[in-house]
Amino acid sequence: MSRLPLIALAALVIATAATQPPALSKRAQRGLAFAQTHCAACHGIAANATSPNPEAPPWDDIANQPGLTAITLRTFLRDSHNYPEAMNFTVDRARVRELADYMVTLQRPGYKPSI
Ligand code: HEC
Repeated sequence: MSRLPLIALAALVIATAATQPPALSKRAQRGLAFAQTHCAACHGIAANATSPNPEAPPWDDIANQPGLTAITLRTFLRDSHNYPEAMNFTVDRARVRELADYMVTLQRPGYKPSI
């Protein structure tokens, strides 16, 4: 019996895995859902998205700031005194963790933020 079909299948599986974005954790999924309702009016919240509000940086640019981690992002988001004036709200702690987990999924090696 030929092994060709098996090899073709394996190649397909590998190719598919390489092009899919990494699966989001449950927490990151909740962060994305929250962002869709609370942040997406101003920010581009998905990879390569343009912000509806030109003053608001796309999240690619925020997530790929040098030195940014889920922890530094949480610290920032927990204290609304840090927020730019346009962001006149607070985010509760559970949501902050979810948002930070989602936002760091936008980190990509070699991405050069424009901010
Ligand atoms: C009403 C519009 C608006 C909404 C809604 C909004 N933002 Fe922003 N956000 C802005 C603007 C404008 C800036 C950039 C301000 C500046 O550069 O001075 C910004 C900047 C940021 C920054 C970077 C801040 C910095 O100083 O580096 C983060 C992080 C951020 N927003 C997170 C969020 C999150 C999380 C949400 C949803 C919970 C959200 N934003 C919703 C307008 C908005």
